[in-house]
Amino acid sequence: MEFFETVKNRYSCKKFNGKSVEKDKLEMILEAGRLAPTAKNLQEQHIYVAQSEEALSKIDASTPCRYNAGTVLVVAYDRDNVYTYPGGKQSSGAEDAAIVATHIMLAAHSVGVDSCWLNCFYADKLKADLGLKENEEILMLLDLGYAAEGFSPLENHFKRKPLSETVSYI
Ligand SMILES: Cc1cc2nc3c(=O)[nH]c(=O)nc-3n(C[C@H](O)[C@H](O)[C@H](O)COP(=O)(O)O)c2cc1C
Repeated sequence: MEFFETVKNRYSCKKFNGKSVEKDKLEMILEAGRLAPTAKNLQEQHIYVAQSEEALSKIDASTPCRYNAGTVLVVAYDRDNVYTYPGGKQSSGAEDAAIVATHIMLAAHSVGVDSCWLNCFYADKLKADLGLKENEEILMLLDLGYAAEGFSPLENHFKRKPLSETVSYI
């Protein structure tokens, strides 16, 4: 699928049929994340793939938004391995992990896998339940799978501001 078609047609799926993503597709999706750029090429991301009943139940204990997805990615980063920007106020961890997650989300759509980006979850609880190390921060979760029959994009998907509101030529 052409890149622009992918961007245009991707939507947040909020009702999945429960099927896990096949291994070959999942590997392609994860590869798109691996190829993402990161500040100073630090690659501080780590992706946890939840597909077992045990792992998915831990996800369910931290968010109401799995929507029956058969696969959930937990996108984390190592806060001890980030680039701190000049001025010292901000660093690259969340930004890099968001780029990785965006690559993954768009790659999923391009191979026919539906997704939903989640930030409605209890990060500290999930971190503890998954046994992540102290220096690992969870940025987001990505539901992955296949839309349940009859599910179509919600209204928000079709409501984007015009460029005139979000872009200024200076
Ligand atoms: C940073 C971010 C966080 C989001 N968190 C959630 C969430 O926790 N639960 C949820 O159902 N959808 C979540 N979404 C999905 C948005 O609601 C959705 O992307 C938006 O309404 C536009 O719809 P579309 O993705 O179908 O185009 C999130 C999206 C983004 C980008």
